[in-house]
Amino acid sequence: MPYYVKVGKVPPKRHTTFYKEDGKSLYREELFSTKGFSGIYSNKYHLYMPPQVESVKEIKMEGSPEWSDAPLKYYHFSTDKKQSNGNFLTARNIFLKNEYCVISTANVSEDTELFYRNSYAHEIVFVHHGEGEMFSEYGKLPFEQWDYIVIPKGTTYQLKFKDHKNVKMFIIESDTPFDIPRHFRNEYGQLTEDAPYYERDFKPPQFIEPIDKLGSFQLILKVANRYFEYSLPHHPFDVIGWDGFLYPYTFNLKEYAPKVGKIHLPPPIHLAFVTEHFVICNFVPRLFDFHPNAIPAPYYHSNVDSDEVLYYVHGDFMSRTGVHEGSVTLHPMGIPHGPQPGKTEASIGKKETDEYAIMIDTFTPLKVTINVKKTMVEDYEHSWLEK
Ligand SMILES: [Fe+2]
Repeated sequence: MPYYVKVGKVPPKRHTTFYKEDGKSLYREELFSTKGFSGIYSNKYHLYMPPQVESVKEIKMEGSPEWSDAPLKYYHFSTDKKQSNGNFLTARNIFLKNEYCVISTANVSEDTELFYRNSYAHEIVFVHHGEGEMFSEYGKLPFEQWDYIVIPKGTTYQLKFKDHKNVKMFIIESDTPFDIPRHFRNEYGQLTEDAPYYERDFKPPQFIEPIDKLGSFQLILKVANRYFEYSLPHHPFDVIGWDGFLYPYTFNLKEYAPKVGKIHLPPPIHLAFVTEHFVICNFVPRLFDFHPNAIPAPYYHSNVDSDEVLYYVHGDFMSRTGVHEGSVTLHPMGIPHGPQPGKTEASIGKKETDEYAIMIDTFTPLKVTINVKKTMVEDYEHSWLEK
């Protein structure tokens, strides 16, 4: 999404003849577009017709039931207490969701030859631990620890890991695209000088030769809460070339360049991605506020229009007690939150932080699943009581 990319062979003019080497048969052009035909798009050139399918059947996948009578309160849960196994699709455990957003983790223990497409949602896969390659119609996209893999809705893909000793993914699904905030782009779409990242930080897919194979290839489609298995008569990664603005890419959390101020700056200063229904912010190592009397810890706040989710990646989080890598806190709208007793005072005079965390602020309340109930820290809601 950040900029125009061309990979492989494309014809000089779109929507014109593009012949294979035999000079007679055509490559099949597929326009892959958003917002009808008005949003960003790419043109892909396939060996075979993209709609070909031999069979369609609905399949059942193990879900994560909602905790229907969960109280409105503060939550702290440890996603590492719900270890899973399976492939990059079947290993997913949902913790939080609403109609626009689904938040999961997965401990991936095996690769699969299945292909996957999320038909209704864009995905961000944050690779907390592990490294490997994503394969899609767009080519090969290597990924490493702490990469965000941003995957447009409708992309057919596979994730292959170098090994499965300790693979952990944090996954965010969105019904609308993960966009770069408008104020980080100039009138031509280029990232501005004061944006926290630069075009070079976003890595697009690399070319691989189209795979010319006929047979039976199983594609799993996710359609909201339902799953379908399509049997395709040709390998789906049969693309000789593509170009455009719509493609999967990676961005590493460590490349995010934070901003600091004289006094405490609010969370939007840490923005990374926006959707229509929630935003994602990056908390990364940075110098603290430099007013001589500054309080680096945040003030107590009631953000009445947002549920606030923090996923702790690494380091000491200055305003929270008891959180660790893999922890999630959920501070719902309607009740105030802030540093636990002693944390405000302890932050005074501190010069820097080494924390890494990902924040998701949703504009619609989140529902918790039974996985939260199983992994939560009891009495977290009492952790502000001054003894
Ligand atoms: Fe907050």
